[in-house]
Amino acid sequence: MSFKFIQMSDPQLGFYASRHPGVTGIDFEINNLSKAVKLTNKIKPDFVITTGDLTQDRLDSQQARIVKELYSQLNCKYYFASGNADLTNSPKFQDIERFRKRFGPDYYSFEYLNSQFIILNSTVLFDSKEVPGADIEQIEFLKNSLLEGNANNVQHQMIFMHHPLFGSQPNEENSEKVLPKTNRKKLLKLIESHNVTAVFTGHWHSNNIVKFKHTQLITSGPITFGLGKDPSGIRLIEVEKQQINHEYIPL
Ligand SMILES: [Fe+2]
Repeated sequence: MSFKFIQMSDPQLGFYASRHPGVTGIDFEINNLSKAVKLTNKIKPDFVITTGDLTQDRLDSQQARIVKELYSQLNCKYYFASGNADLTNSPKFQDIERFRKRFGPDYYSFEYLNSQFIILNSTVLFDSKEVPGADIEQIEFLKNSLLEGNANNVQHQMIFMHHPLFGSQPNEENSEKVLPKTNRKKLLKLIESHNVTAVFTGHWHSNNIVKFKHTQLITSGPITFGLGKDPSGIRLIEVEKQQINHEYIPL
Protein backbone atom coordinates (compact mmCIF):
# COMPACT_ATOMS: atom_id res chain seq x y z
CA MET A 1 0.00 0.00 0.00
CA SER A 2 1.43 3.37 -0.97
CA PHE A 3 1.29 6.50 1.13
CA LYS A 4 2.77 9.99 1.21
CA PHE A 5 4.43 12.23 3.75
CA ILE A 6 6.09 15.65 3.78
CA GLN A 7 9.58 16.61 4.88
CA MET A 8 9.96 20.17 6.09
CA SER A 9 13.27 21.61 7.25
CA ASP A 10 14.65 24.66 9.00
CA PRO A 11 11.59 26.79 9.80
CA GLN A 12 14.19 28.59 11.97
CA LEU A 13 12.05 31.47 13.24
CA GLY A 14 14.29 34.55 13.43
CA PHE A 15 16.88 33.44 10.85
CA TYR A 16 15.86 36.00 8.22
CA ALA A 17 16.30 38.88 10.65
CA SER A 18 19.66 37.49 11.82
CA ARG A 19 20.99 37.76 8.23
CA HIS A 20 19.34 41.05 7.24
CA PRO A 21 20.63 44.08 9.15
CA GLY A 22 17.82 46.44 10.04
CA VAL A 23 15.18 43.69 10.01
CA THR A 24 13.79 42.50 13.33
CA GLY A 25 11.15 39.98 14.28
CA ILE A 26 10.00 36.69 12.81
CA ASP A 27 7.39 37.78 10.26
CA PHE A 28 9.29 36.23 7.34
CA GLU A 29 9.25 32.77 8.90
CA ILE A 30 5.70 33.04 10.24
CA ASN A 31 4.55 33.85 6.73
CA ASN A 32 6.50 30.96 5.14
CA LEU A 33 5.56 28.39 7.76
CA SER A 34 1.89 29.40 7.45
CA LYS A 35 2.16 28.88 3.67
CA ALA A 36 3.84 25.49 4.22
CA VAL A 37 1.06 24.42 6.60
CA LYS A 38 -1.67 25.48 4.15
CA LEU A 39 0.06 23.74 1.22
CA THR A 40 0.53 20.59 3.30
CA ASN A 41 -3.12 20.54 4.34
CA LYS A 42 -4.05 20.71 0.64
CA ILE A 43 -1.73 17.80 -0.20
CA LYS A 44 -3.18 15.76 2.69
CA PRO A 45 -0.12 13.68 3.55
CA ASP A 46 -0.25 10.99 6.21
CA PHE A 47 2.24 12.96 8.33
CA VAL A 48 5.04 15.56 8.34
CA ILE A 49 8.61 15.19 9.59
CA THR A 50 10.69 18.34 10.18
CA THR A 51 14.46 17.90 10.13
CA GLY A 52 15.55 20.49 12.66
CA ASP A 53 16.35 24.11 13.29
CA LEU A 54 12.86 24.94 14.47
CA THR A 55 13.96 28.30 15.89
CA GLN A 56 16.96 30.59 15.52
CA ASP A 57 17.24 31.49 19.22
CA ARG A 58 16.84 28.50 21.50
CA LEU A 59 16.55 30.80 24.55
CA ASP A 60 13.54 32.65 23.12
CA SER A 61 10.54 30.68 24.37
CA GLN A 62 8.22 32.91 22.34
CA GLN A 63 9.72 31.54 19.09
CA ALA A 64 9.17 27.96 20.29
CA ARG A 65 5.59 28.73 21.27
CA ILE A 66 4.80 30.20 17.84
CA VAL A 67 6.37 27.24 16.00
CA LYS A 68 4.21 24.86 17.99
CA GLU A 69 1.12 26.98 17.41
CA LEU A 70 1.68 27.00 13.62
CA TYR A 71 2.33 23.25 13.45
CA SER A 72 -0.84 22.60 15.44
CA GLN A 73 -2.76 23.93 12.41
CA LEU A 74 -1.70 20.87 10.39
CA ASN A 75 -4.49 18.38 9.74
CA CYS A 76 -2.12 15.43 10.16
CA LYS A 77 0.41 14.09 12.64
CA TYR A 78 3.81 15.78 12.75
CA TYR A 79 7.21 14.81 14.07
CA PHE A 80 10.24 16.95 14.94
CA ALA A 81 13.98 16.39 14.81
CA SER A 82 16.34 18.86 16.48
CA GLY A 83 18.98 21.00 14.76
CA ASN A 84 22.11 22.85 15.83
CA ALA A 85 20.21 26.15 16.18
CA ASP A 86 17.86 24.38 18.61
CA LEU A 87 20.74 22.99 20.69
CA THR A 88 23.97 24.95 19.86
CA ASN A 89 26.88 23.38 17.95
CA SER A 90 28.16 21.72 21.14
CA PRO A 91 24.97 20.96 23.06
CA LYS A 92 24.92 20.69 26.83
CA PHE A 93 22.52 18.42 28.69
CA GLN A 94 20.25 21.39 29.52
CA ASP A 95 19.97 22.29 25.81
CA ILE A 96 18.76 18.78 24.99
CA GLU A 97 16.40 18.82 27.98
CA ARG A 98 14.94 22.18 26.90
CA PHE A 99 14.25 20.78 23.43
CA ARG A 100 12.64 17.63 24.85
CA LYS A 101 10.34 19.64 27.10
CA ARG A 102 9.19 21.82 24.20
CA PHE A 103 9.07 19.41 21.29
CA GLY A 104 9.32 15.84 22.61
CA PRO A 105 12.12 13.25 22.41
CA ASP A 106 15.23 14.13 20.40
CA TYR A 107 15.63 10.61 19.00
CA TYR A 108 13.00 7.94 18.45
CA SER A 109 11.54 5.69 15.80
CA PHE A 110 8.12 4.60 14.59
CA GLU A 111 6.66 2.33 11.98
CA TYR A 112 3.95 3.24 9.52
CA LEU A 113 2.46 0.66 7.14
CA ASN A 114 5.43 -0.97 5.38
CA SER A 115 8.07 1.50 6.55
CA GLN A 116 10.21 2.45 9.50
CA PHE A 117 11.13 6.05 10.36
CA ILE A 118 14.14 6.73 12.56
CA ILE A 119 14.68 10.25 13.86
CA LEU A 120 18.14 11.15 15.19
CA ASN A 121 19.73 14.06 17.04
CA SER A 122 22.61 14.74 14.64
CA THR A 123 23.98 17.62 16.71
CA VAL A 124 25.34 15.21 19.35
CA LEU A 125 26.74 13.12 16.49
CA PHE A 126 28.41 16.33 15.28
CA ASP A 127 29.89 17.19 18.68
CA SER A 128 29.33 15.32 21.93
CA LYS A 129 32.12 16.82 24.04
CA GLU A 130 29.64 18.44 26.47
CA VAL A 131 27.54 15.26 26.67
CA PRO A 132 30.13 12.46 26.59
CA GLY A 133 28.79 9.17 25.29
CA ALA A 134 25.59 10.68 23.84
CA ASP A 135 26.77 9.95 20.30
CA ILE A 136 27.66 6.33 21.11
CA GLU A 137 24.28 5.87 22.77
CA GLN A 138 22.53 7.16 19.70
CA ILE A 139 24.50 5.03 17.23
CA GLU A 140 23.55 2.04 19.39
CA PHE A 141 19.93 3.20 19.21
CA LEU A 142 20.15 3.41 15.41
CA LYS A 143 21.67 -0.07 15.20
CA ASN A 144 18.96 -1.60 17.42
CA SER A 145 16.17 0.25 15.61
CA LEU A 146 17.38 -1.00 12.23
CA LEU A 147 17.51 -4.56 13.56
CA GLU A 148 14.01 -4.18 14.98
CA GLY A 149 12.72 -2.95 11.62
CA ASN A 150 14.31 -5.94 9.89
CA ALA A 151 12.73 -8.29 12.42
CA ASN A 152 9.35 -6.69 11.65
CA ASN A 153 9.96 -7.16 7.91
CA VAL A 154 9.60 -3.49 7.00
CA GLN A 155 10.03 -2.70 3.32
CA HIS A 156 11.69 0.70 3.76
CA GLN A 157 13.90 2.09 6.50
CA MET A 158 14.39 5.86 6.46
CA ILE A 159 16.49 8.10 8.68
CA PHE A 160 15.76 11.77 9.47
CA MET A 161 18.24 14.16 11.04
CA HIS A 162 19.51 17.73 10.69
CA HIS A 163 23.11 17.42 9.43
CA PRO A 164 23.83 15.78 6.06
CA LEU A 165 26.33 12.89 6.14
CA PHE A 166 28.32 14.40 3.29
CA GLY A 167 27.79 16.72 0.34
CA SER A 168 29.40 14.88 -2.57
CA GLN A 169 31.94 12.29 -1.37
CA PRO A 170 31.75 9.95 1.66
CA ASN A 171 35.38 10.81 2.53
CA GLU A 172 35.13 14.57 2.21
CA GLU A 173 36.76 16.74 4.85
CA ASN A 174 35.05 17.71 8.09
CA SER A 175 33.20 21.01 8.04
CA GLU A 176 30.28 22.71 9.76
CA LYS A 177 28.08 21.49 6.91
CA VAL A 178 28.36 17.72 7.44
CA LEU A 179 28.79 15.08 10.14
CA PRO A 180 32.43 14.59 11.12
CA LYS A 181 34.22 11.63 9.53
CA THR A 182 34.37 9.38 12.63
CA ASN A 183 30.63 9.23 13.26
CA ARG A 184 29.87 9.62 9.55
CA LYS A 185 31.72 6.34 8.87
CA LYS A 186 29.83 4.52 11.63
CA LEU A 187 26.47 5.68 10.28
CA LEU A 188 27.37 4.89 6.67
CA LYS A 189 28.36 1.36 7.68
CA LEU A 190 24.94 0.78 9.29
CA ILE A 191 23.14 2.43 6.38
CA GLU A 192 24.93 0.17 3.91
CA SER A 193 24.51 -3.05 5.86
CA HIS A 194 20.75 -2.46 6.31
CA ASN A 195 20.21 -1.14 2.82
CA VAL A 196 18.45 1.95 4.17
CA THR A 197 16.14 3.46 1.52
CA ALA A 198 16.90 7.14 2.22
CA VAL A 199 18.36 9.62 4.69
CA PHE A 200 16.57 12.99 4.86
CA THR A 201 18.42 16.03 6.20
CA GLY A 202 18.37 19.85 6.19
CA HIS A 203 20.84 22.40 7.62
CA TRP A 204 22.11 23.67 4.25
CA HIS A 205 19.03 25.73 3.37
CA SER A 206 19.30 24.28 -0.14
CA ASN A 207 18.64 21.03 -1.95
CA ASN A 208 21.33 18.42 -2.48
CA ILE A 209 20.80 14.83 -3.51
CA VAL A 210 23.54 12.21 -3.63
CA LYS A 211 23.64 8.44 -3.52
CA PHE A 212 25.61 6.20 -1.19
CA LYS A 213 25.54 2.59 -2.43
CA HIS A 214 21.76 1.94 -2.63
CA THR A 215 20.74 4.78 -0.31
CA GLN A 216 19.51 8.20 -1.40
CA LEU A 217 20.87 11.02 0.76
CA ILE A 218 18.36 13.82 0.40
CA THR A 219 19.03 17.29 1.79
CA SER A 220 16.03 19.60 1.48
CA GLY A 221 15.70 23.36 1.27
CA PRO A 222 14.21 25.40 4.11
CA ILE A 223 10.96 26.92 5.25
CA THR A 224 12.93 30.07 6.12
CA PHE A 225 14.99 31.68 3.33
CA GLY A 226 17.31 29.70 1.10
CA LEU A 227 21.09 30.05 1.00
CA GLY A 228 21.47 28.46 -2.42
CA LYS A 229 19.61 28.66 -5.72
CA ASP A 230 16.47 26.99 -4.40
CA PRO A 231 13.48 28.86 -3.04
CA SER A 232 11.89 28.06 0.32
CA GLY A 233 9.86 24.87 0.05
CA ILE A 234 8.76 21.48 1.31
CA ARG A 235 9.43 17.97 -0.01
CA LEU A 236 6.63 15.55 -0.86
CA ILE A 237 7.59 11.87 -0.64
CA GLU A 238 5.49 9.05 -2.02
CA VAL A 239 6.32 5.65 -0.63
CA GLU A 240 5.54 2.67 -2.81
CA LYS A 241 6.26 -0.98 -2.33
CA GLN A 242 9.58 -1.10 -4.19
CA GLN A 243 10.66 2.54 -4.19
CA ILE A 244 10.13 6.08 -3.02
CA ASN A 245 9.50 9.09 -5.28
CA HIS A 246 9.93 12.63 -4.12
CA GLU A 247 9.75 16.22 -5.31
CA TYR A 248 10.60 19.60 -3.83
CA ILE A 249 7.66 22.00 -3.92
CA PRO A 250 8.39 25.74 -3.61
CA LEU A 251 6.15 27.63 -1.20
FE1 LIG B 1 21.37 24.11 10.95
